[in-house]
Amino acid sequence: MKKINFLNLGKHPITNNFLSTANPKNEFFYNLKLSYHTETKLISLNNFVPPKKMFNNRYAHRASASMTMRKAYADLAKKIKKKFNPRSILEIGSNDGVFIKHFSDIQNIGVEPCKNLADLTTKMKIKTYDKFWTFLLSKKINKKHGKFDVIYSANTISHIHKLDETFKAIENSLNEEGIFILEDPSLLKSLQKLSYDQFYDEHAYVFSITALRNITKKSGLEIFNIEELNTHGGSNRVYFKKKTNKKFKISNNVKRHLSTEKKYGIHKFRTYQIFAKNVNKSKESLIKIFQSIKKKKKKIIGYGATYKSSTVLNFCKINKNYINYFVDTTPTKSGKFTPGSHIPIKAYKGISDDVDYAFLGAWNFKDEIYKKEKKFIKRGGKFITHVPYPRIL
Ligand code: TYD
Repeated sequence: MKKINFLNLGKHPITNNFLSTANPKNEFFYNLKLSYHTETKLISLNNFVPPKKMFNNRYAHRASASMTMRKAYADLAKKIKKKFNPRSILEIGSNDGVFIKHFSDIQNIGVEPCKNLADLTTKMKIKTYDKFWTFLLSKKINKKHGKFDVIYSANTISHIHKLDETFKAIENSLNEEGIFILEDPSLLKSLQKLSYDQFYDEHAYVFSITALRNITKKSGLEIFNIEELNTHGGSNRVYFKKKTNKKFKISNNVKRHLSTEKKYGIHKFRTYQIFAKNVNKSKESLIKIFQSIKKKKKKIIGYGATYKSSTVLNFCKINKNYINYFVDTTPTKSGKFTPGSHIPIKAYKGISDDVDYAFLGAWNFKDEIYKKEKKFIKRGGKFITHVPYPRIL
């Protein structure tokens, strides 16, 4: 298998490393380069960041920070119960329990390597393993709790570097008629929206259905259904079953997704060369927007100090000279500084009256934010976004 680079996004910090000072010493940086695998068509970071540098006791992201996500997970839990009636469920990457807590009436087990998060679900009386998902851990969990009817994992499998082992461990922990549900950002949507900010240290991969099928070809698992989601700017929920399980038919939408991706050229290196060219254009145009606003001496803040925005800020070299501060609802981020770009983050208390523009770090929650910020919009406040192309909204 051969990996070919197609985009260099420059030097980047650990996105989760929100800083306690604006002048940090020895901040860790790595080269963020994207590559294409000639055989599997898998799109990945060229070099991975050691997992312990990212997933540790200081992990900031709380899946329940947004109302949209809280509701989405509650609805999904209801749907899974109705459709599959599981007696047991395992979640890989259980974060703060936003999903798994809805299964307290059956056996529900969490796996979460960030101890600060695992402690939260343990307190909620959910048995949580504060470990990385490996084949060894799957064996240990099987021994103690048996195999599972449902394994669920949202925004986590794309973070795990060793994919062969990951899928082998999932297969090992599933009952014969069990299903595995994976949710991760969609490569097709990222390409269509030019949202290059899906690429950062944690996202070792951004999956296409094509690549997922290729990498699981030799395993005992196969895709039998796909749902498209709006989360994280466009995600896929992919349902896997064991190849030996004939209980579930393979939905026609699997073929449809594969053919849509083929039409787009997901399998071709040329597609990524064009993407890279457009990403560089997007950078130039975003910088121009910031420069022209600053020339007019207007005040810009950031809205949502997301991981995604870290890629944009560091790639486009947008710092305190452009953005005075970020507002964010996540308590662990407030009072800190954005990694690499060192912009202060304030606890969200509405947008102050002296703000003219707000850069949408959390562009994936645009609808939720627009509903909340009617006052800002009414008084002439404007949002800036870079998706699908840089502009003032
Ligand atoms: P998230 O969507 O998880 O993006 P990423 O994975 O790129 O970090 O993060 C959303 C962030 O935006 C989170 O820190 C909460 C914040 N946020 C607000 O501050 N206000 C809002 O209204 C919303 C919806 C999110």
